[in-house]
Amino acid sequence: MKLIHMTDTHLTTPGRTIFGRDPLLNFERALDHVAASHSDAELMVISGDLSDLGDLADYQWLRERLSRFPIPVRLCIGNHDNRQTFLSVFPECSDAAGFVQGVHDASFGRCLLLDTYEPRSAAGTYCERRQAWLERQLSEHDGPFFLFMHHNPFPTHIRLVDRIGLIDDTRFRSIIAKYRSKIRHIFFGHCHFALSGSVAGVPTTSLRGTNHASYPLFAEVLAVADLPEAYGVTFIGADYVTVHMVEFGYRGDIVIEE
Ligand SMILES: [Fe+2]
Ligand SMILES: [Fe+2]
Repeated sequence: MKLIHMTDTHLTTPGRTIFGRDPLLNFERALDHVAASHSDAELMVISGDLSDLGDLADYQWLRERLSRFPIPVRLCIGNHDNRQTFLSVFPECSDAAGFVQGVHDASFGRCLLLDTYEPRSAAGTYCERRQAWLERQLSEHDGPFFLFMHHNPFPTHIRLVDRIGLIDDTRFRSIIAKYRSKIRHIFFGHCHFALSGSVAGVPTTSLRGTNHASYPLFAEVLAVADLPEAYGVTFIGADYVTVHMVEFGYRGDIVIEE
């Protein structure tokens, strides 16, 4: 089974660039790349920072664009998004409490889309109401589960990145620990660089976004670098999960070995 993970599309007004890159153009390139190489994927998830400024027009554009995309897509929101504005265009993404949380049953397992958005904050939160939703989901089904979220569920040990991480990550990890045997993988975004690890023994993966890229400098700065735009391709077998980061924005040669 094949799954596509995209993140941090940062869609914005046509013609506006972010760190010299055009998010709409790069998102189109990413979609074309996926459609050309992975049209057999069962699902694509975009893990937040869908819009750069949370503008209504970005979500309207996204909805229209995804309606012409051949693979089913599920969405998370990130700190750059605006929950209310997003839900005005994607009302079906709301849970009963008004968070952008949902369930998607795929052939490989049950996907949970989590909402780590906190209004007017670059950092994320996972409040008690959302924790209760997650616990309910994890306790009421046998799984296996695949989780998707925007903010990193563990510290990066890059101080300025961790200042905008998930505030209540310890509590979040304790929920994961309780149900770890049912959860096969956690996918997240937000950091704009490749990152993997585990939460309570559950493997996690993040990757560069489809537009601007960060660089993990372990210093008192946030660093942006001219690294290729990327998306993820995941293969899920009965007893393995393989995660690739595909650098669709790579501008150099690719030599075919004879
Ligand atoms: Fe982002
Ligand atoms: Fe973010």
